[in-house]
Amino acid sequence: MSVTETGRPRIMIVDDMLTNLRNAKAALSDQYDVFTVASAARMFALLEEETPSLILLDINMPEISGIEAIKTLKGRADTREIPVLFLTARNDSESEVEGLSLGAVDYISKPFDPPLLRKRVEIHLTMEYQKKNLERQKLELQDFNANLRRMVEEKTGKVLELQSAILRTLADAVESRDDATGGHVQRTQRWLAILLDGLRRSGLHAVEISAWPTELLLQSSQLHDVGKIAISDGILKKPGPLTADEFEEMKRHCAFGAGIIEKIGANISESDFLIQSRIFALTHHEKWDGSGYPGGLRGKDIPLQGRLMAIADVYDALISDRPYKKAFSHPEAARIIIQGAANHFDPELIEVFRGIEPRFGESS
Ligand SMILES: [Fe+2]
Ligand SMILES: [Fe+2]
Repeated sequence: MSVTETGRPRIMIVDDMLTNLRNAKAALSDQYDVFTVASAARMFALLEEETPSLILLDINMPEISGIEAIKTLKGRADTREIPVLFLTARNDSESEVEGLSLGAVDYISKPFDPPLLRKRVEIHLTMEYQKKNLERQKLELQDFNANLRRMVEEKTGKVLELQSAILRTLADAVESRDDATGGHVQRTQRWLAILLDGLRRSGLHAVEISAWPTELLLQSSQLHDVGKIAISDGILKKPGPLTADEFEEMKRHCAFGAGIIEKIGANISESDFLIQSRIFALTHHEKWDGSGYPGGLRGKDIPLQGRLMAIADVYDALISDRPYKKAFSHPEAARIIIQGAANHFDPELIEVFRGIEPRFGESS
């Protein structure tokens, strides 16, 4: 609300009849600072210097009528928000309707009843004040919400950073026992990221993967081999192929891993991260034809995460030196993966792999 140095709202009265101006001023000047002008042209001149809290505008005036004047007032950004009340003769009902539809907030019939004029002005000033107050509160609320969102994002970012650091340490601790596969966890994350990107572009499984935040999924894949913590050094570090019994023992890392993740989950509320981690740990050695472990799951019974991780995991094993084999080159590894469609891997995912395998080569 625009107020003068006296702290009182300013009312501008525009009427070509001196008597009306005088009467209105007499009715209002106890409570308001009142400016009277005898034409719309004078009003516009004064508006260059003053912004009143409210305008009382006569309709029938020579030169510029009240109707013309309100069109200009509502068309200008600097005057659009000033409430305008029409002062009308009783036979002006058509103009009243036109004026109201052009943006006037009310009309007052002439001759004025002073108490009624005061009351109507007071009501509209209060409404205007409340409207501005609401707008201010809305802005404050938007500001508050934006701050809150920023704070939550910041905190979430910190929690994710911490979570990632703890996981990396845990995954490194597991890996450090298994010399041969140093860097495996980090690299499989990279392969998984390329596969996920290819999958997104292909449009396959769009609904399922749209529910997976990439960062969360990649982080949760870090724990896929966490169960190796429970495998003995004799097996984990054996510089040669495993016997059948040793392999059976090795297979247990999937269920061990899922168990460890479940234990973490038992102490906290449901977490997407742990749900995904458990799926990765439990299903990354399942095979499309059902010959994998630990569940012997077949085809699409294997969760998509497991089917993706199987490709990332095997690709990484192929391009890495192992105690019992030399690393394959990227083209050889890619060929072996592609040959594994339908028995080891999901054929649809292998089609995706085929389209993006040069990116594996560039990153390996
Ligand atoms: Fe594994
Ligand atoms: Fe692995």
